[in-house]
Amino acid sequence: MNIDNIREQFPITRVRLPETENCSARPLVYFDHAASTHAPQAVLDAYIEMHTSMYANIHRGEHYLSQISSDLFDEVPEIIGNFLGLNDMENQGVQGIITTNTTSSLDLASHVMASFPGAVLTTTLEHHSNILPHRRRGEVIFADLDDNGKLLLDDIEEKLQKNDVKLVAVSAASNVTGYVPPIEKIARMAHDSGAKILVDAAQRIAHLKLELKPIGHPEHLDFVAGAGHKFYAPFGSAFLVGDQELFDQAPPYIPAGGTVMYVTKTDALFLNGSSRHTPGTPNIAGAVAMGKALRFLKEIGIENIRNHEITLMKKMVHGMQQIDGVSLLGNIGVDERVGVISFNVEGIPHELMAKWLDEVGGIACRNGCFCAHPYVLELLKISPELSAQYRQKLSMGEDVQLPGAVRASIGIYNTMEEVEKFLTVLETLVSAKSEQKPPKILSQMCGIY
Ligand code: ALA
Repeated sequence: MNIDNIREQFPITRVRLPETENCSARPLVYFDHAASTHAPQAVLDAYIEMHTSMYANIHRGEHYLSQISSDLFDEVPEIIGNFLGLNDMENQGVQGIITTNTTSSLDLASHVMASFPGAVLTTTLEHHSNILPHRRRGEVIFADLDDNGKLLLDDIEEKLQKNDVKLVAVSAASNVTGYVPPIEKIARMAHDSGAKILVDAAQRIAHLKLELKPIGHPEHLDFVAGAGHKFYAPFGSAFLVGDQELFDQAPPYIPAGGTVMYVTKTDALFLNGSSRHTPGTPNIAGAVAMGKALRFLKEIGIENIRNHEITLMKKMVHGMQQIDGVSLLGNIGVDERVGVISFNVEGIPHELMAKWLDEVGGIACRNGCFCAHPYVLELLKISPELSAQYRQKLSMGEDVQLPGAVRASIGIYNTMEEVEKFLTVLETLVSAKSEQKPPKILSQMCGIY
């Protein structure tokens, strides 16, 4: 993988952050790939071309543009299946539905499973979007973690045996620690107990191989959710891949235009297949760009991407472990994680640290609880009493400074120089903070990196 060549394909790598009150202009160092990933030129071109010369609604016209647009849109699910290692997916009974974000995909899966009896077994490390949609539809139980922040497989096994579980809802990579649960094993465990598995693959698609496997295989993934903006496509287009039989059994997600064959004043005949759960006009250009992004990644090779990111991650994790006062959330080996690293610095609130990284080094990191409160609170060892106090104060409308962390997350176009710069800036900020006040640190350090 030639990193210079990759970088050239991403217009964002040429961006300089503008001068601010505190800081001079500086190159952007983007370590917020877990939130959203920038598109390369080829994906942007495909997206723009859909608007400039192929713009037409799909499945609603015999005219030339509508045919082109429909064809391009309709091939996206197969591109997704192919990327997930299952060719000719639709002929094998697996369907891809285009949605708007991972959250809507997970909610759709939850809806599809709603009429089945039994509980949803989710895990303590999930994003809120893989907890709350299930909770509003029925009983949810949680698989516990060990002290390192990893899933306890024995606990999953035990809960599957003791409860009537219809669905295991689990992340394929954590957006807090980067931890990669053993999805294949969990799929086997779920199927052995008669449950289905729903995989939130948002943080994994662009970084580490994930395989759907055919229906009937013990490691088959019954549902996989992902979003384009996490794998180098524009915002607003996502997917849910799942078994057609399950999709067809469920009532339409939003019964509306696009989901029906025939409507009278008293009833409606709904379509089967992906249209059943695709109400209204989808983000057609976004979907096509999403397909283009997967082809872009496939051409580079997911193994090559993984090797590159693991090299950077090793350097980053090791470097951070050497800095006194820096603590990483979770104790996860580099082979068991994607390049998502959350940390705290003793004595510096997470939001201030994130701001300093930006102002001093032009380094973009996210901070907070990452829409994963149960996981973050457990990793930070927040007691149930303190947690109850936060809840009480928030419910009273009080201004509460919630605990959290800073998160650096690696992507395909990051370089070793950027990781080194991150470590230098972090180390300098950590050692300077005890002696000087923040504005002074900034005015002294701004622009020197
Ligand atoms: N879920 C996204 C994140 O982790 C937005 O930042």
